[in-house]
Amino acid sequence: MPIIEFKEANLTVTADEGQDIRTIAQKNKVDVYGGPGKLLNCRGFGLCGTDRIKADAKDCLSPMTWKEKLHLEEKGGVRLACQTRLVADVQVSIAPAIEYGNELKEDLKMLPALIVFGGGTLFFIVFMLFELIGKPLF
Ligand code: FES
Repeated sequence: MPIIEFKEANLTVTADEGQDIRTIAQKNKVDVYGGPGKLLNCRGFGLCGTDRIKADAKDCLSPMTWKEKLHLEEKGGVRLACQTRLVADVQVSIAPAIEYGNELKEDLKMLPALIVFGGGTLFFIVFMLFELIGKPLF
């Protein structure tokens, strides 16, 4: 059974080969998300890209999946915990997830402006559609 070390959590555990890093982390109460990603994540479907980890060696983990290639560049050893399967002993850092969480926090500051703009645009489209069919809203 391979050994996996979570650097920030100061935790070393053994896990079954082929198990994904996210599942191993959750079983051992290690958080692989940062910032809003803790709540706003896809629960392991490889869609959100919030569970970013950095591993020390390529050969210890499964090859990158197409979902990872959509979110990440192939260089730098950054992977998605939910898509990465354990092959051999490895050290894992969740620093990229924390960094990405901080970027998301910055992006969420624009959310109120987007809601107002999006709502206004939607209202305008609906208003114009009713005008076009000859049944004005007001
Ligand atoms: S949990 Fe969403 S990509 Fe891994």
